[in-house]
Amino acid sequence: MKVNGKPYRTIWSTADGAVEIIDQTKLPHEFVTMRLENMRDAERAIRDMWVRGAPLIGVTAAYGVALSMKHHASDAALEASCGVLLAARPTAVNLRWGVERMRAFLAPLPESERAGAAWLEAARIADEDVEINASIGRYGAELIRAMHESKQREGRSGVVNILTHCNAGWLATVDWGTALAPIYAAFDAGVPLHVWVDETRPRNQGASLTAWELGQHGVPHTVIVDNAGGHLMQHGLVDMAIVGTDRVTATGDVCNKIGTYLKALAAHDNGVPFYIGLPTPTIDWTLNDGVKEIPIEERAQEEVTHIAGLCDDGQVRTVQVTPTGSRAANYGFDVTPARLVTGLITERGVVAANAQAMECLK
Ligand code: MRU
Repeated sequence: MKVNGKPYRTIWSTADGAVEIIDQTKLPHEFVTMRLENMRDAERAIRDMWVRGAPLIGVTAAYGVALSMKHHASDAALEASCGVLLAARPTAVNLRWGVERMRAFLAPLPESERAGAAWLEAARIADEDVEINASIGRYGAELIRAMHESKQREGRSGVVNILTHCNAGWLATVDWGTALAPIYAAFDAGVPLHVWVDETRPRNQGASLTAWELGQHGVPHTVIVDNAGGHLMQHGLVDMAIVGTDRVTATGDVCNKIGTYLKALAAHDNGVPFYIGLPTPTIDWTLNDGVKEIPIEERAQEEVTHIAGLCDDGQVRTVQVTPTGSRAANYGFDVTPARLVTGLITERGVVAANAQAMECLK
């Protein structure tokens, strides 16, 4: 996608054997790229959320393995770097997927070939992510178009109002995004639409990242506080919701950024279709019960007690929003049971969120 008219991916390799990323902690006020020289840099980029979003975390981890092979390519080094990267964040299953794919690819190779091969495999994973997301976009755009046509037939405004939560746009992937890929595809095809962007406390991925990337692409959007969705749905102002996910069970339970479950409940109560955009590597075929089995990341209290923003003097500063001494709990994700999900928009088509329908994705 383009930033100030220039095409970018979220991660790319350099001619001298490093990896560059967009530092997402600086957006939307500054556009800064960063260089990752070694596996520890990649691990830190994931842990500290310079990169985030399940697919991008998986690709960054793959490049992390490649960076480590550049320095030490022994079996022990491969095992150690996979272990470090796997521990960087717990919830997005794409991290495990990316690391395991690299490990399985590299382990049978002689040490002397691992560095070069790892680099190519990480690049393949990145390219595949772009293709997958473009395909999610094509399938999802048909749903948006169908909603547009149905509204027109009913004599209503043809503008499709879509609610999204957190950031599952191109910044959460290598390019295009998952939940936002259908929105970009439909918008580019001329379907009139407008996006309600949940701000997504505490890290504000909606207000900071989704709003920024939609704005860069010229997509009409409005930022709302996280609690506004139910009200909008009751008043017929949301035609459909599309969110991303960090892990989906084999039975269709969907783990996503904290607050997604409440949106799904409100959507169910108001007859609003609730879709999930996801690449199939986000499905964890080993799990059946999302609420009981998916590990939910708990992050630092300071992400809740403090907030950063642009001050009138042009400086970004962090301020405290809670009384000194109040404790805060910071659960990163929640699980939306499959029964609340209208459909899974994947690169292989739209399928129902249940074990039987999902068989075709294995
Ligand atoms: O904590 P983050 O920013 O890495 O979480 C990302 C999300 O939960 C997004 O909502 C997204 O849908 C999943 S990644 C496409």
